[in-house]
Amino acid sequence: MLADKDRIFTNVYGYQPWNLDAAMRRGDWDATKKLMEIGQDAIIDRVKASGLRGRGGAGFPTGVKWGFMPKEPKPERPNFLVINADESEPGSCKDREIIRHDPHKLIEGALIAGFAMRARAAYIYIRGEYIREAETLFAAIAEAYAKGLIGKNACGSGYDFDVFAHRGAGAYICGEETAMLESLEGKKGQPRLKPPFPAGAGLYGCPTTVNNVESIAVVPTILRRSPEWFSSFGRENNKGTKLFQISGHVEKPCVVEEAMSIPFRELIEKHCGGIRGGWDNLLAVIPGGSSVPLVPASQIIDAPMDFDGLKEVGSGLGTAAVIVMDKSTDIVRAISRISYFYKHESCGQCTPCREGTGWMWRVMERMRTGDADISEIDTLHQVTKQVEGHTICALGDAAAWPIQGLIRHFRPEMERRIREKQGGGVAPMQEAAE
Ligand SMILES: Cc1cc2nc3c(=O)[nH]c(=O)nc-3n(C[C@H](O)[C@H](O)[C@H](O)COP(=O)(O)O)c2cc1C
Ligand code: SF4
Repeated sequence: MLADKDRIFTNVYGYQPWNLDAAMRRGDWDATKKLMEIGQDAIIDRVKASGLRGRGGAGFPTGVKWGFMPKEPKPERPNFLVINADESEPGSCKDREIIRHDPHKLIEGALIAGFAMRARAAYIYIRGEYIREAETLFAAIAEAYAKGLIGKNACGSGYDFDVFAHRGAGAYICGEETAMLESLEGKKGQPRLKPPFPAGAGLYGCPTTVNNVESIAVVPTILRRSPEWFSSFGRENNKGTKLFQISGHVEKPCVVEEAMSIPFRELIEKHCGGIRGGWDNLLAVIPGGSSVPLVPASQIIDAPMDFDGLKEVGSGLGTAAVIVMDKSTDIVRAISRISYFYKHESCGQCTPCREGTGWMWRVMERMRTGDADISEIDTLHQVTKQVEGHTICALGDAAAWPIQGLIRHFRPEMERRIREKQGGGVAPMQEAAE
């Protein structure tokens, strides 16, 4: 279990105030100027050496991403850092805890990361529903300006750096990095075709890096404690500490910082008081937020909770939003509800996603009630394959994968309902669902 002394987020439960004085007592903004003095490229090298991979879902190495930014930006085309606080993936609730209880870690991280990649400013794009969190963030930014920590000559470093917070209006798609840039520019949040990638042409056509809140907030501590310290947690290629968000049928759902690669069973036993009704009652787990395929109990129990460990069981770490489902769950209904979410959030630009998400949801509803034909399970699977990889952004994949996971692991349950309905009986799970 991760020792308290190794936690980066020491106020994740809000036992102490979020404000600047309290943050400074926790070690934030301590000699930030000295951290900057090690130099822009040296900071990027240290982040690379730490093994930090993006915490927003895709797991791209953070230092490598920063290295794509122009080293000598032209005055008329400044570099920008955009921080993704949209956090709309069902199950995900970690960036929220950082912003409401530890916002100065994020703001200090923004300065250091922005400085390293020669950015003129950071834009923090915060989910519209996070009303109180946005208030805290605005207030924390104001505190940092008032103390000269950001703005002109930030922390006395001679570097000018602004931090802006921008509130979204409640669309999941604005979490996709290029849709976020469109939204920041005041347009409808619809993903852009790539290339060009944001590092070439991003916000207002200028070089931009988009990073998740957690990816940025851990950076000051990595520099203070050393890349080696950070990479001492987790397995090769899966380094560091990580905020896990465990919801669903555990005794005590929680957000907890743990070492990457902790086995699922240990995570649940140590922090969540076990599975509701005991381990034999576990049905399946969605380990990385609603877009990743579910994993049945037998395969998840000993899996290391990291990028590679969850890939090996046909799923993904995503945002590490762990949704636990016990045997009382109507699994077909659960996945159908997720399909409805993706149908609702599709931005409608590409035909496979716009049409496919609605089609998949309607078929999933008939699977739920048992009113489909058994042959339609294969058709549904084929359609998910036609959506996956054929769209502008990964929302298409996110809509396809949960259904693929269901068919892969729970096909007998889907068939059972259909047979039962055809035989005139009512599927018991369906009764429970209605
Ligand atoms: C539909 C969709 C929604 C997304 N939502 C979020 C989000 O809410 N927060 C986030 O950090 N990344 C989200 N992402 C991933 C971002 O596009 C991007 O990869 C991420 O912010 C990069 O940060 P990182 O490298 O620090 O992980 C989403 C991607 C897609 C396709
Ligand atoms: S995949 Fe869906 S959400 Fe993404 S751009 Fe296409 S239509 Fe929009």
